[in-house]
Amino acid sequence: MLIKVAFSSVNYKDMLAVQTKGGVINNYPMIPGIDLSGTVVSSNKSKFTQGQKVIVTGFQTGMTHTGGYSEYARVPAEWVVALPEGLSLHDAMVIGTAGFTAALSIMTLESKGMSPDKDQHILVTGASGGVGSVAIQLLKASGYKNIHALTRDQGEIDKLLSIGASDVLLTSDVLPEKQKVLDKQKFHYVLDAVGGEVASGLLPQIYYGGSMSMCGNAGGIQFNSTVMPFILRGISVLGVDSVNFPIQERDAIWQRFAGEWHIMSQALVKDVVMEELSEVFENIKAGSHTGRHILKII
Ligand SMILES: NC(=O)c1ccc[n+]([C@@H]2O[C@H](COP(=O)([O-])OP(=O)(O)OC[C@H]3O[C@@H](n4cnc5c(N)ncnc54)[C@H](OP(=O)(O)O)[C@@H]3O)[C@@H](O)[C@H]2O)c1
Repeated sequence: MLIKVAFSSVNYKDMLAVQTKGGVINNYPMIPGIDLSGTVVSSNKSKFTQGQKVIVTGFQTGMTHTGGYSEYARVPAEWVVALPEGLSLHDAMVIGTAGFTAALSIMTLESKGMSPDKDQHILVTGASGGVGSVAIQLLKASGYKNIHALTRDQGEIDKLLSIGASDVLLTSDVLPEKQKVLDKQKFHYVLDAVGGEVASGLLPQIYYGGSMSMCGNAGGIQFNSTVMPFILRGISVLGVDSVNFPIQERDAIWQRFAGEWHIMSQALVKDVVMEELSEVFENIKAGSHTGRHILKII
């Protein structure tokens, strides 16, 4: 299917895609951009018609197939979702892979008992980043009350409160100097986008029977734990993957973004043009990226 791209977005993986040996693109030439929204130019599948507005996130977009950092992209129709009524092409990219992953993380935690009807404390890590900032907004929109945002950056506190965090915790205050086997129980559920020492240090702080979803490695790929949180507290660690999440189940989630999850706080959204991308990538690499950057193609 050929799509005229209107917008793309910037995700952590897009930064990796433009690094030498970043592990995302293996054959060149290739156009990066794991997300795109735009209009169908031509399609060999009757499900989509010329002129229809569509969204593509994940699968091999921007990896083995031309991605969103381009005026046109060619991808298999099996990767494409129709833009739901109520969302603009720009809105769809404010969500993008980061927001879709935030939604999957919430749904995964809810499958293990997280609920807005219970008095639970939920911690979101990497809070000022793409996944974290959208997760906070979705949790707020879902009616959650005790949404704790974890950030390394004191300067982000006001913005995180404005998008729905109940309070903001600094990583340096929450992580113990030396990781404990079992620590004081503080959180019922942890939505983690950071991995590394952050996830390792938080696992022992989860209440009996709680869970942590893991989708990211912005803070490193190592995850250190003993078996104790699992065998003495019944804690679950739940993996989240947005890339190969089944296409059949995607429409329903995008419908939620157009309805109950219509978040779109502009506090952490910035539009950029192609010439500004390298600066955004540098910020992601340095760990100082905040919110969602939307690439304007049209
Ligand atoms: N599994 C999947 O399908 C999937 C999908 C999307 C994303 N991801 C992964 O999820 C992670 C987040 O993606 P994103 O697009 O939200 O990235 P992002 O916008 O760069 O956000 C990452 C956030 O993590 C925190 N952080 C960065 N470096 C850190 C470090 N060294 N130590 C501790 N915290 C650090 C920062 O938040 P603070 O400054 O607020 O602490 C940063 O804003 C990435 O690893 C990405 O690859 C996975």
